[in-house]
Amino acid sequence: MLLITGASGHVGRRAAELVLDKTGHKGGALRLMTRTPEKLQALAGAEIVAGDFSRPETLARAFHGVDVALVISSSAPPGQRALHHRNAFRAAAAAGVRHVVYVSLQGSTPQSRFSYSRDHATSERFLAESGVPETTILRNAFYLDMLPGFFDAGGVLRDPSASGRAALVAREDAAQAMAAALLQPPGGTLDVTGPEALSVTDAVARLARLTGRALRYEHAPAQADGSESVAENWRAELYTGWFEAVAAGELARTTDAVQRLTGRTPLALEHYFTAFPAALGPLRSGTAIGA
Ligand SMILES: NC(=O)c1ccc[n+]([C@@H]2O[C@H](COP(=O)([O-])OP(=O)(O)OC[C@H]3O[C@@H](n4cnc5c(N)ncnc54)[C@H](OP(=O)(O)O)[C@@H]3O)[C@@H](O)[C@H]2O)c1
Repeated sequence: MLLITGASGHVGRRAAELVLDKTGHKGGALRLMTRTPEKLQALAGAEIVAGDFSRPETLARAFHGVDVALVISSSAPPGQRALHHRNAFRAAAAAGVRHVVYVSLQGSTPQSRFSYSRDHATSERFLAESGVPETTILRNAFYLDMLPGFFDAGGVLRDPSASGRAALVAREDAAQAMAAALLQPPGGTLDVTGPEALSVTDAVARLARLTGRALRYEHAPAQADGSESVAENWRAELYTGWFEAVAAGELARTTDAVQRLTGRTPLALEHYFTAFPAALGPLRSGTAIGA
């Protein structure tokens, strides 16, 4: 039995579809974990189980009888999130799971500028200490898909990274890599990246050409839009930390991990947004930004 946690999310859902396609939608081969089974759209051949990293008592059932588990990081605040992951790794070890594939982040070190990267470094340590016999860590680059969401209503992206570069990966390639690693875990730690290290300025210019929109880059300290409540300040810090990590070059290295795991060349910016136009979000033609 294989398990995917975070199976309602963007990459978890896509990885589940890919695994089911490859395993022929046979019942008993794949289990999907979610906090809200009633909301998870069924996938033929997959069993759905309730589970929440913040409630360890829910995890024994989710990991029971599992051989390989793909643990997708949750969206809790940094610090709390690593403890969630520790609960998952402990449950996997207690259930006798042979191999855990953990989805981490490129640049995950205790010294990173990005709080989620520091949190992933802690999570990776918890996995090493968990007693799970075999592990693979997929350190995904930042998702290319995040870029369109960083523009303001006037089509301007403000950030401090300027010459910093990031090997942005498409969610589609990340999901393909996750599915391949779940089916045939390679072991070890891999940076899962796109094909090139993009500067944010280049990415903005290329998105403008692709969409025909008047998109602009402004070098400025990154600021959240001010809509967050005090309790949500950690989300604002994630936004600035994302750009600071890029500026520091923490996510600039490209690798051949997507090619090695999936046999596919990872998608470049133009190829991805042309093949998956919905990923352009508010920058799609016909919507308001920069028109
Ligand atoms: N590399 C990047 O640039 C990047 C960007 C965004 C996010 N991420 C990370 O990668 C993960 C997957 O990305 P995505 O785009 O698929 O995110 P997403 O669509 O927001 O999905 C997040 C998933 O996390 C699960 N989750 C949240 N809290 C949980 C908990 N307490 N216990 C168990 N599962 C929990 C959710 O499952 P249920 O709601 O079904 O329980 C959901 O499926 C994210 O959660 C985030 O940690 C990375």
